[in-house]
Amino acid sequence: MTTDPTTPQLMLGHVDIDADHQQFTERLAQLKAASGAAFIQQFGQLTDHLAEHFERENSLMMQSGYPASAEHRGEHNRVLGEMTNFRARVEAGRVRFGRAYALEQLPGWFDLHVSTMDAALVEYLKRSPL
Ligand SMILES: [Fe+2]
Ligand SMILES: [Fe+2]
Repeated sequence: MTTDPTTPQLMLGHVDIDADHQQFTERLAQLKAASGAAFIQQFGQLTDHLAEHFERENSLMMQSGYPASAEHRGEHNRVLGEMTNFRARVEAGRVRFGRAYALEQLPGWFDLHVSTMDAALVEYLKRSPL
């Protein structure tokens, strides 16, 4: 699987969740191409985007009574904690730590998260519309 935004596997059939995934993919692609001050700024923006993206999914889980919400929410918290940590390092001038994380960890994590936890959530939402 790839992180190409047009990859059909990443489109789950939920308008808001798909829009967030599209936005994450575009922001990550821009970050990979950025350097210097632009990289630092975009790393922070990607972290802010993820916080909002995760909160939207967390709200959908809460409103729908999704049974696996604790596990999914826990994974969001774990990744947001990592991003926040790397953001602090990047803003302190240790940009290469953030670059390595963004290039080597985030793409694989995102593909797996979308195709497992987010896909399961969307399947549940389709069966139990809000
Ligand atoms: Fe997501
Ligand atoms: Fe998620």
